[in-house]
Amino acid sequence: MKGKGNEGVARKLFIRTYGCQMNFYDSARMADVLAPIGYVPAEGPEEADMVILNTCHIREKAAEKVYSELGRLRALQHEKAAQGGRLVVAVAGCVAQAEGAEIMRRAPNVDIVLGPQTYHRLPEMVARAHRAGGGGGVLDTDFPVEAKFDHLPEQAAPQGASAFLTVQEGCDKFCTFCVVPYTRGAEYSRPVADIVAEARRLVAAGALEITLLGQNVNAYHGEDEGGRARSLGWLVRRLAEIDGLARIRYTTSHPLEMDDELIAAHGAEAKLMPFLHLPVQSGSDRILAAMNRRHDAAHYLRVVERLRRARPDLALSSDFIVGFPGESDADFRDTMRLVEAVRFAQAYSFKYSPRPGTPAAAIQDAQVPDALKAERLAELQAALQRDQRAFNEACTGRTLAVLFDRPGSRPGQLAGRSPYMQAVHAPLSGQALGRILEVRIERANASSLAARPPDGQADAA
Ligand code: 5AD
Ligand code: SF4
Repeated sequence: MKGKGNEGVARKLFIRTYGCQMNFYDSARMADVLAPIGYVPAEGPEEADMVILNTCHIREKAAEKVYSELGRLRALQHEKAAQGGRLVVAVAGCVAQAEGAEIMRRAPNVDIVLGPQTYHRLPEMVARAHRAGGGGGVLDTDFPVEAKFDHLPEQAAPQGASAFLTVQEGCDKFCTFCVVPYTRGAEYSRPVADIVAEARRLVAAGALEITLLGQNVNAYHGEDEGGRARSLGWLVRRLAEIDGLARIRYTTSHPLEMDDELIAAHGAEAKLMPFLHLPVQSGSDRILAAMNRRHDAAHYLRVVERLRRARPDLALSSDFIVGFPGESDADFRDTMRLVEAVRFAQAYSFKYSPRPGTPAAAIQDAQVPDALKAERLAELQAALQRDQRAFNEACTGRTLAVLFDRPGSRPGQLAGRSPYMQAVHAPLSGQALGRILEVRIERANASSLAARPPDGQADAA
Protein backbone atom coordinates (compact mmCIF):
# COMPACT_ATOMS: atom_id res chain seq x y z
CA MET A 1 0.00 0.00 0.00
CA LYS A 2 1.22 3.50 -0.83
CA GLY A 3 1.21 6.08 1.89
CA LYS A 4 0.59 9.79 1.49
CA GLY A 5 3.42 12.15 2.36
CA ASN A 6 5.74 9.45 3.66
CA GLU A 7 8.01 8.85 0.68
CA GLY A 8 5.46 6.43 -0.78
CA VAL A 9 6.53 3.55 1.49
CA ALA A 10 4.09 1.72 3.74
CA ARG A 11 5.19 1.90 7.34
CA LYS A 12 4.37 -0.80 9.80
CA LEU A 13 2.57 -0.20 13.04
CA PHE A 14 2.39 -2.45 16.09
CA ILE A 15 0.12 -1.56 19.02
CA ARG A 16 0.37 -3.35 22.36
CA THR A 17 -2.69 -2.83 24.53
CA TYR A 18 -2.97 -3.14 28.30
CA GLY A 19 -5.99 -2.82 30.56
CA CYS A 20 -9.67 -2.37 29.89
CA GLN A 21 -11.89 -2.90 26.86
CA MET A 22 -11.91 0.81 26.11
CA ASN A 23 -8.16 0.67 25.62
CA PHE A 24 -8.66 -2.10 23.04
CA TYR A 25 -11.27 0.06 21.29
CA ASP A 26 -8.91 3.06 21.42
CA SER A 27 -6.06 1.00 19.95
CA ALA A 28 -8.23 0.07 16.96
CA ARG A 29 -9.13 3.74 16.51
CA MET A 30 -5.46 4.78 16.64
CA ALA A 31 -4.79 2.29 13.84
CA ASP A 32 -7.70 3.89 11.91
CA VAL A 33 -6.18 7.36 12.43
CA LEU A 34 -2.77 6.26 11.17
CA ALA A 35 -3.98 4.21 8.18
CA PRO A 36 -4.49 7.27 5.91
CA ILE A 37 -0.84 8.29 6.36
CA GLY A 38 0.35 4.87 5.28
CA TYR A 39 0.59 2.77 8.43
CA VAL A 40 -0.31 -0.89 8.02
CA PRO A 41 -0.44 -3.49 10.82
CA ALA A 42 2.76 -5.32 11.82
CA GLU A 43 2.78 -8.83 13.32
CA GLY A 44 5.13 -7.85 16.13
CA PRO A 45 7.42 -5.05 17.34
CA GLU A 46 10.44 -6.55 15.50
CA GLU A 47 9.01 -5.76 12.07
CA ALA A 48 7.43 -2.43 13.04
CA ASP A 49 8.46 1.14 12.18
CA MET A 50 6.33 2.42 15.00
CA VAL A 51 5.21 0.81 18.26
CA ILE A 52 2.45 2.25 20.41
CA LEU A 53 2.03 1.04 23.98
CA ASN A 54 -1.55 1.76 25.00
CA THR A 55 -1.24 1.72 28.75
CA CYS A 56 -3.27 1.21 31.93
CA HIS A 57 -2.79 3.13 35.18
CA ILE A 58 -5.50 1.54 37.29
CA ARG A 59 -3.18 -0.40 39.61
CA GLU A 60 0.55 -0.16 40.24
CA LYS A 61 1.31 -3.53 38.64
CA ALA A 62 -0.36 -2.49 35.39
CA ALA A 63 1.54 0.80 35.28
CA GLU A 64 4.95 -0.76 35.98
CA LYS A 65 4.64 -3.10 32.97
CA VAL A 66 5.12 -0.09 30.71
CA TYR A 67 8.62 0.67 31.90
CA SER A 68 9.84 -2.90 31.47
CA GLU A 69 8.37 -3.00 27.96
CA LEU A 70 10.06 0.32 27.15
CA GLY A 71 13.39 -1.20 28.19
CA ARG A 72 12.89 -4.08 25.72
CA LEU A 73 11.93 -1.65 22.97
CA ARG A 74 15.07 0.41 23.54
CA ALA A 75 17.20 -2.58 22.53
CA LEU A 76 15.11 -2.94 19.37
CA GLN A 77 15.50 0.76 18.61
CA HIS A 78 19.30 0.42 18.85
CA GLU A 79 19.26 -2.56 16.49
CA LYS A 80 17.16 -0.66 13.96
CA ALA A 81 19.38 2.42 14.20
CA ALA A 82 22.49 0.27 13.63
CA GLN A 83 20.90 -0.87 10.35
CA GLY A 84 20.18 2.73 9.38
CA GLY A 85 16.48 2.50 10.20
CA ARG A 86 14.28 3.95 12.89
CA LEU A 87 11.70 2.65 15.33
CA VAL A 88 9.34 5.33 16.64
CA VAL A 89 8.00 4.53 20.11
CA ALA A 90 4.82 6.11 21.43
CA VAL A 91 3.21 5.73 24.84
CA ALA A 92 -0.54 6.28 24.87
CA GLY A 93 -3.38 5.73 27.34
CA CYS A 94 -3.72 6.38 31.03
CA VAL A 95 -0.09 6.03 32.18
CA ALA A 96 0.81 8.57 29.49
CA GLN A 97 -1.90 10.90 30.77
CA ALA A 98 -0.87 10.56 34.40
CA GLU A 99 2.92 10.41 34.07
CA GLY A 100 3.73 12.02 30.72
CA ALA A 101 6.71 14.08 31.87
CA GLU A 102 7.96 11.28 34.10
CA ILE A 103 7.97 8.88 31.12
CA MET A 104 9.99 11.35 29.05
CA ARG A 105 12.49 11.60 31.91
CA ARG A 106 12.72 7.89 32.77
CA ALA A 107 12.65 6.67 29.15
CA PRO A 108 14.31 9.17 26.81
CA ASN A 109 13.90 6.66 23.96
CA VAL A 110 10.18 7.48 23.86
CA ASP A 111 9.33 9.69 20.87
CA ILE A 112 5.66 10.45 21.54
CA VAL A 113 3.54 10.58 24.68
CA LEU A 114 -0.18 11.06 24.14
CA GLY A 115 -3.22 10.87 26.38
CA PRO A 116 -6.56 9.15 25.66
CA GLN A 117 -8.16 12.43 24.57
CA THR A 118 -5.65 13.44 21.90
CA TYR A 119 -5.15 10.43 19.67
CA HIS A 120 -7.00 12.07 16.77
CA ARG A 121 -3.89 14.31 16.58
CA LEU A 122 -1.51 11.36 16.11
CA PRO A 123 -0.61 12.07 12.45
CA GLU A 124 0.62 15.53 13.42
CA MET A 125 2.60 14.10 16.35
CA VAL A 126 4.18 11.46 14.11
CA ALA A 127 5.23 14.15 11.63
CA ARG A 128 6.76 16.19 14.46
CA ALA A 129 8.59 13.14 15.83
CA HIS A 130 10.05 12.47 12.38
CA ARG A 131 11.15 16.09 12.04
CA ALA A 132 12.80 15.87 15.46
CA GLY A 133 14.66 12.78 14.23
CA GLY A 134 14.88 11.11 17.62
CA GLY A 135 16.08 14.21 19.47
CA GLY A 136 13.38 15.39 21.87
CA GLY A 137 9.98 13.86 22.34
CA VAL A 138 6.48 15.05 21.50
CA LEU A 139 4.13 15.32 24.50
CA ASP A 140 0.37 15.84 24.06
CA THR A 141 -1.74 15.04 27.08
CA ASP A 142 -4.25 17.89 26.79
CA PHE A 143 -7.94 17.62 27.34
CA PRO A 144 -8.66 19.53 24.12
CA VAL A 145 -11.79 21.62 23.71
CA GLU A 146 -12.55 19.96 20.39
CA ALA A 147 -14.24 16.58 20.85
CA LYS A 148 -11.98 13.74 19.82
CA PHE A 149 -14.87 11.80 18.30
CA ASP A 150 -15.58 14.64 15.85
CA HIS A 151 -12.06 14.35 14.47
CA LEU A 152 -11.76 10.59 14.11
CA PRO A 153 -12.18 8.84 10.78
CA GLU A 154 -14.92 6.21 10.50
CA GLN A 155 -13.86 2.83 11.82
CA ALA A 156 -11.79 1.24 9.09
CA ALA A 157 -10.90 -2.24 10.30
CA PRO A 158 -13.91 -4.52 10.88
CA GLN A 159 -14.06 -5.80 14.45
CA GLY A 160 -15.74 -9.12 13.70
CA ALA A 161 -18.86 -10.71 15.15
CA SER A 162 -18.49 -9.13 18.56
CA ALA A 163 -17.64 -5.43 18.45
CA PHE A 164 -17.03 -2.59 20.90
CA LEU A 165 -18.47 0.89 20.60
CA THR A 166 -17.57 3.73 22.95
CA VAL A 167 -20.70 5.73 23.85
CA GLN A 168 -19.47 7.51 26.95
CA GLU A 169 -16.10 8.40 28.31
CA GLY A 170 -14.68 9.79 31.52
CA CYS A 171 -15.90 9.85 35.08
CA ASP A 172 -17.09 12.50 37.54
CA LYS A 173 -17.55 10.11 40.45
CA PHE A 174 -14.11 10.48 42.06
CA CYS A 175 -14.01 7.28 44.06
CA THR A 176 -11.12 7.95 46.42
CA PHE A 177 -9.01 4.99 45.19
CA CYS A 178 -9.35 5.59 41.47
CA VAL A 179 -7.22 7.37 38.86
CA VAL A 180 -9.82 7.30 36.10
CA PRO A 181 -11.35 10.77 36.69
CA TYR A 182 -7.82 12.19 36.34
CA THR A 183 -6.64 10.11 33.37
CA ARG A 184 -9.85 9.99 31.32
CA GLY A 185 -11.27 13.33 32.35
CA ALA A 186 -14.84 14.52 32.83
CA GLU A 187 -17.89 12.55 31.74
CA TYR A 188 -18.76 12.97 28.09
CA SER A 189 -21.57 11.27 26.15
CA ARG A 190 -21.51 10.92 22.37
CA PRO A 191 -24.61 12.07 20.49
CA VAL A 192 -27.18 9.37 19.66
CA ALA A 193 -26.91 9.90 15.89
CA ASP A 194 -23.14 9.23 15.87
CA ILE A 195 -23.59 6.07 17.91
CA VAL A 196 -26.42 4.74 15.74
CA ALA A 197 -24.38 5.42 12.59
CA GLU A 198 -21.33 3.65 14.03
CA ALA A 199 -23.47 0.71 15.18
CA ARG A 200 -24.95 0.38 11.67
CA ARG A 201 -21.47 0.35 10.16
CA LEU A 202 -20.34 -2.33 12.62
CA VAL A 203 -23.37 -4.49 11.80
CA ALA A 204 -22.82 -4.00 8.07
CA ALA A 205 -19.24 -5.20 8.62
CA GLY A 206 -20.45 -8.40 10.31
CA ALA A 207 -21.07 -7.56 13.96
CA LEU A 208 -23.87 -9.55 15.61
CA GLU A 209 -23.08 -8.26 19.06
CA ILE A 210 -22.14 -4.77 20.19
CA THR A 211 -20.80 -3.94 23.63
CA LEU A 212 -21.38 -0.30 24.52
CA LEU A 213 -18.38 1.04 26.38
CA GLY A 214 -17.93 3.79 28.92
CA GLN A 215 -16.07 4.23 32.21
CA ASN A 216 -19.46 5.14 33.62
CA VAL A 217 -21.56 3.86 30.78
CA ASN A 218 -24.89 4.00 32.56
CA ALA A 219 -24.35 7.69 33.27
CA TYR A 220 -24.84 8.11 29.51
CA HIS A 221 -26.88 11.20 28.69
CA GLY A 222 -26.16 11.94 25.03
CA GLU A 223 -28.39 14.12 22.90
CA ASP A 224 -30.79 12.66 20.37
CA GLU A 225 -31.48 14.21 16.95
CA GLY A 226 -33.92 16.67 18.56
CA GLY A 227 -31.39 17.86 21.14
CA ARG A 228 -32.98 15.95 24.00
CA ALA A 229 -30.73 14.16 26.53
CA ARG A 230 -31.35 10.40 26.47
CA SER A 231 -30.47 7.69 28.96
CA LEU A 232 -28.61 4.46 28.33
CA GLY A 233 -31.85 2.45 28.66
CA TRP A 234 -33.36 4.56 25.86
CA LEU A 235 -30.21 4.17 23.73
CA VAL A 236 -30.25 0.39 24.14
CA ARG A 237 -33.82 0.22 22.88
CA ARG A 238 -32.99 2.50 19.96
CA LEU A 239 -30.01 0.34 18.96
CA ALA A 240 -32.12 -2.81 19.31
CA GLU A 241 -34.10 -1.59 16.28
CA ILE A 242 -31.10 -2.22 14.02
CA ASP A 243 -31.78 -5.25 11.84
CA GLY A 244 -29.04 -7.82 11.98
CA LEU A 245 -27.87 -6.76 15.44
CA ALA A 246 -28.64 -9.71 17.72
CA ARG A 247 -27.02 -8.82 21.02
CA ILE A 248 -26.34 -5.70 23.05
CA ARG A 249 -24.20 -5.43 26.17
CA TYR A 250 -22.79 -2.50 28.10
CA THR A 251 -19.96 -1.98 30.55
CA THR A 252 -18.93 -0.59 33.11
CA SER A 253 -21.79 0.59 35.28
CA HIS A 254 -22.14 2.38 38.59
CA PRO A 255 -24.88 1.25 41.02
CA LEU A 256 -26.13 4.83 41.49
CA GLU A 257 -26.90 5.18 37.79
CA MET A 258 -29.12 2.10 37.39
CA ASP A 259 -32.25 4.11 36.62
CA ASP A 260 -35.79 2.85 35.98
CA GLU A 261 -35.45 3.07 32.20
CA LEU A 262 -32.33 0.91 32.17
CA ILE A 263 -33.73 -1.66 34.59
CA ALA A 264 -36.91 -1.81 32.51
CA ALA A 265 -34.86 -2.35 29.34
CA HIS A 266 -33.45 -5.51 30.92
CA GLY A 267 -36.97 -6.86 31.17
CA ALA A 268 -38.33 -5.59 27.87
CA GLU A 269 -35.52 -5.86 25.36
CA ALA A 270 -34.62 -9.41 24.33
CA LYS A 271 -31.48 -8.23 22.52
CA LEU A 272 -30.07 -6.89 25.78
CA MET A 273 -28.09 -9.83 27.14
CA PRO A 274 -28.88 -11.14 30.64
CA PHE A 275 -25.49 -10.26 32.07
CA LEU A 276 -24.42 -7.18 33.96
CA HIS A 277 -21.06 -6.10 35.33
CA LEU A 278 -21.97 -3.91 38.29
CA PRO A 279 -18.96 -3.17 40.52
CA VAL A 280 -19.70 -2.85 44.23
CA GLN A 281 -16.06 -2.73 45.53
CA SER A 282 -17.00 -3.46 49.16
CA GLY A 283 -19.92 -4.67 51.27
CA SER A 284 -19.09 -2.41 54.22
CA ASP A 285 -21.03 0.85 54.53
CA ARG A 286 -18.10 2.47 56.34
CA ILE A 287 -15.65 1.54 53.57
CA LEU A 288 -18.13 2.44 50.81
CA ALA A 289 -18.38 5.91 52.39
CA ALA A 290 -14.58 6.20 52.65
CA MET A 291 -14.37 5.15 49.00
CA ASN A 292 -16.87 7.92 48.13
CA ARG A 293 -19.07 5.41 46.35
CA ARG A 294 -22.10 7.43 47.51
CA HIS A 295 -24.32 4.42 48.21
CA ASP A 296 -24.48 1.75 50.89
CA ALA A 297 -24.63 -2.04 50.68
CA ALA A 298 -28.43 -2.03 51.05
CA HIS A 299 -28.75 0.21 48.00
CA TYR A 300 -26.70 -2.22 45.94
CA LEU A 301 -28.82 -5.16 47.08
CA ARG A 302 -31.98 -3.26 46.22
CA VAL A 303 -30.72 -2.55 42.71
CA VAL A 304 -29.88 -6.23 42.26
CA GLU A 305 -33.34 -7.21 43.45
CA ARG A 306 -35.04 -4.81 41.03
CA LEU A 307 -32.88 -6.05 38.16
CA ARG A 308 -33.69 -9.67 38.95
CA ARG A 309 -37.36 -8.85 39.13
CA ALA A 310 -37.11 -7.38 35.61
CA ARG A 311 -34.94 -10.21 34.29
CA PRO A 312 -35.00 -13.27 36.59
CA ASP A 313 -32.12 -15.06 34.84
CA LEU A 314 -29.77 -12.04 34.97
CA ALA A 315 -26.17 -13.08 35.72
CA LEU A 316 -24.22 -10.55 37.74
CA SER A 317 -20.56 -9.73 37.85
CA SER A 318 -18.67 -7.30 40.05
CA ASP A 319 -15.35 -5.77 41.07
CA PHE A 320 -14.04 -5.90 44.63
CA ILE A 321 -11.18 -4.18 46.39
CA VAL A 322 -9.83 -5.71 49.60
CA GLY A 323 -7.55 -3.90 52.02
CA PHE A 324 -8.79 -0.39 51.34
CA PRO A 325 -7.21 1.91 53.99
CA GLY A 326 -8.90 1.36 57.33
CA GLU A 327 -10.66 -1.87 56.32
CA SER A 328 -11.19 -3.90 59.51
CA ASP A 329 -12.04 -7.58 59.84
CA ALA A 330 -15.65 -6.57 60.45
CA ASP A 331 -15.67 -4.54 57.22
CA PHE A 332 -14.29 -7.49 55.31
CA ARG A 333 -16.98 -9.76 56.83
CA ASP A 334 -19.57 -7.34 55.43
CA THR A 335 -18.07 -7.85 51.98
CA MET A 336 -18.24 -11.63 52.40
CA ARG A 337 -21.88 -11.29 53.50
CA LEU A 338 -22.74 -9.30 50.39
CA VAL A 339 -21.13 -11.99 48.23
CA GLU A 340 -23.24 -14.63 49.98
CA ALA A 341 -26.37 -12.56 49.42
CA VAL A 342 -25.86 -11.89 45.71
CA ARG A 343 -24.09 -15.03 44.40
CA PHE A 344 -22.20 -13.51 41.49
CA ALA A 345 -21.80 -15.47 38.26
CA GLN A 346 -18.34 -13.99 37.85
CA ALA A 347 -16.18 -11.34 39.53
CA TYR A 348 -12.86 -9.57 39.63
CA SER A 349 -11.12 -8.85 42.91
CA PHE A 350 -8.02 -6.87 43.70
CA LYS A 351 -5.79 -5.89 46.57
CA TYR A 352 -6.03 -2.16 47.13
CA SER A 353 -3.16 -0.44 45.35
CA PRO A 354 -2.38 3.16 46.39
CA ARG A 355 -2.36 5.35 43.30
CA PRO A 356 -0.45 8.62 43.22
CA GLY A 357 -2.68 11.68 43.39
CA THR A 358 -5.77 9.88 44.70
CA PRO A 359 -7.19 10.81 48.14
CA ALA A 360 -7.02 7.25 49.53
CA ALA A 361 -3.30 7.01 48.85
CA ALA A 362 -2.75 9.92 51.24
CA ILE A 363 -4.33 8.08 54.21
CA GLN A 364 -0.90 7.21 55.60
CA ASP A 365 -1.60 5.55 58.94
CA ALA A 366 -4.48 3.27 57.94
CA GLN A 367 -2.92 1.31 55.07
CA VAL A 368 -3.61 -2.41 55.46
CA PRO A 369 -0.48 -4.63 55.53
CA ASP A 370 0.07 -6.60 52.35
CA ALA A 371 -0.06 -9.99 54.09
CA LEU A 372 -3.52 -9.22 55.44
CA LYS A 373 -4.68 -8.00 52.01
CA ALA A 374 -3.43 -11.27 50.52
CA GLU A 375 -5.26 -13.32 53.16
CA ARG A 376 -8.54 -11.50 52.57
CA LEU A 377 -8.17 -11.68 48.82
CA ALA A 378 -7.67 -15.46 48.98
CA GLU A 379 -10.77 -15.91 51.12
CA LEU A 380 -12.88 -13.65 48.90
CA GLN A 381 -11.67 -15.32 45.70
CA ALA A 382 -12.44 -18.78 47.06
CA ALA A 383 -16.05 -17.71 47.68
CA LEU A 384 -16.33 -15.99 44.29
CA GLN A 385 -14.90 -19.03 42.51
CA ARG A 386 -17.31 -21.31 44.37
CA ASP A 387 -20.23 -19.18 43.16
CA GLN A 388 -18.91 -19.01 39.60
CA ARG A 389 -18.54 -22.77 39.49
CA ALA A 390 -22.05 -23.26 40.88
CA PHE A 391 -23.45 -20.90 38.26
CA ASN A 392 -21.58 -22.74 35.49
CA GLU A 393 -22.66 -26.14 36.77
CA ALA A 394 -26.29 -25.05 36.79
CA CYS A 395 -25.92 -24.54 33.03
CA THR A 396 -25.01 -28.15 32.25
CA GLY A 397 -27.75 -29.93 30.33
CA ARG A 398 -29.16 -26.58 29.16
CA THR A 399 -29.22 -25.38 25.58
CA LEU A 400 -27.66 -21.93 25.24
CA ALA A 401 -27.29 -19.59 22.27
CA VAL A 402 -23.56 -19.04 21.83
CA LEU A 403 -21.92 -16.47 19.60
CA PHE A 404 -18.84 -18.26 18.27
CA ASP A 405 -16.34 -15.55 17.46
CA ARG A 406 -12.89 -17.13 17.77
CA PRO A 407 -10.93 -20.36 17.32
CA GLY A 408 -10.87 -22.60 20.39
CA SER A 409 -7.71 -23.56 22.22
CA ARG A 410 -7.58 -26.92 20.35
CA PRO A 411 -7.82 -27.55 16.60
CA GLY A 412 -11.34 -28.34 15.40
CA GLN A 413 -12.81 -26.24 18.20
CA LEU A 414 -14.47 -22.84 18.28
CA ALA A 415 -14.98 -20.63 21.29
CA GLY A 416 -17.60 -18.05 22.03
CA ARG A 417 -19.82 -16.48 24.66
CA SER A 418 -23.10 -17.57 26.17
CA PRO A 419 -25.78 -14.94 26.85
CA TYR A 420 -24.38 -14.92 30.42
CA MET A 421 -20.87 -14.08 29.17
CA GLN A 422 -19.45 -17.52 29.95
CA ALA A 423 -16.72 -18.74 27.62
CA VAL A 424 -18.05 -21.79 25.73
CA HIS A 425 -15.99 -24.27 23.69
CA ALA A 426 -17.50 -26.63 21.14
CA PRO A 427 -16.14 -28.96 18.48
CA LEU A 428 -17.12 -26.94 15.41
CA SER A 429 -15.65 -26.19 12.02
CA GLY A 430 -14.52 -22.74 10.96
CA GLN A 431 -17.79 -22.38 9.03
CA ALA A 432 -19.58 -21.66 12.29
CA LEU A 433 -17.28 -18.73 13.05
CA GLY A 434 -19.22 -15.50 13.44
CA ARG A 435 -22.55 -17.26 14.02
CA ILE A 436 -24.92 -17.68 16.93
CA LEU A 437 -25.72 -21.35 17.46
CA GLU A 438 -27.85 -23.19 19.99
CA VAL A 439 -25.55 -25.67 21.72
CA ARG A 440 -26.10 -28.12 24.53
CA ILE A 441 -23.84 -27.58 27.54
CA GLU A 442 -22.18 -30.85 28.48
CA ARG A 443 -19.63 -29.88 31.10
CA ALA A 444 -18.81 -26.98 33.38
CA ASN A 445 -15.24 -26.00 34.19
CA ALA A 446 -14.14 -23.41 36.73
CA SER A 447 -14.36 -20.56 34.24
CA SER A 448 -15.76 -22.02 31.02
CA LEU A 449 -18.29 -24.43 29.55
CA ALA A 450 -17.89 -27.30 27.11
CA ALA A 451 -20.71 -27.85 24.62
CA ARG A 452 -21.81 -30.48 22.12
CA PRO A 453 -22.11 -29.34 18.51
CA PRO A 454 -25.67 -28.53 17.56
CA ASP A 455 -27.73 -30.99 15.50
CA GLY A 456 -28.06 -29.47 12.06
CA GLN A 457 -26.27 -26.29 13.24
CA ALA A 458 -29.38 -24.11 13.01
CA ASP A 459 -29.02 -20.37 13.50
CA ALA A 460 -30.55 -18.85 16.57
CA ALA A 461 -30.59 -15.32 17.89
N1 5AD B 1 -6.52 -0.48 43.77
C1 5AD B 1 -7.10 -1.68 43.51
N2 5AD B 1 -8.09 -1.84 42.63
C2 5AD B 1 -8.51 -0.75 41.96
N3 5AD B 1 -9.46 -0.59 41.04
C3 5AD B 1 -9.49 0.69 40.67
N4 5AD B 1 -8.58 1.40 41.34
C4 5AD B 1 -7.95 0.51 42.16
C5 5AD B 1 -6.92 0.63 43.11
N5 5AD B 1 -6.35 1.81 43.39
C6 5AD B 1 -10.33 -1.69 40.59
C7 5AD B 1 -11.79 -1.40 40.93
C8 5AD B 1 -12.37 -1.06 39.58
C9 5AD B 1 -11.54 -1.93 38.67
C10 5AD B 1 -11.55 -1.56 37.24
O1 5AD B 1 -10.23 -1.82 39.19
O2 5AD B 1 -12.36 -2.57 41.46
O3 5AD B 1 -13.75 -1.33 39.50
FE1 SF4 C 1 -13.11 5.00 39.05
FE2 SF4 C 1 -15.24 5.25 40.67
FE3 SF4 C 1 -15.23 6.46 38.26
FE4 SF4 C 1 -15.42 3.77 38.41
S1 SF4 C 1 -16.92 5.27 39.21
S2 SF4 C 1 -14.09 4.96 37.01
S3 SF4 C 1 -14.12 3.33 40.19
S4 SF4 C 1 -13.88 6.93 39.99
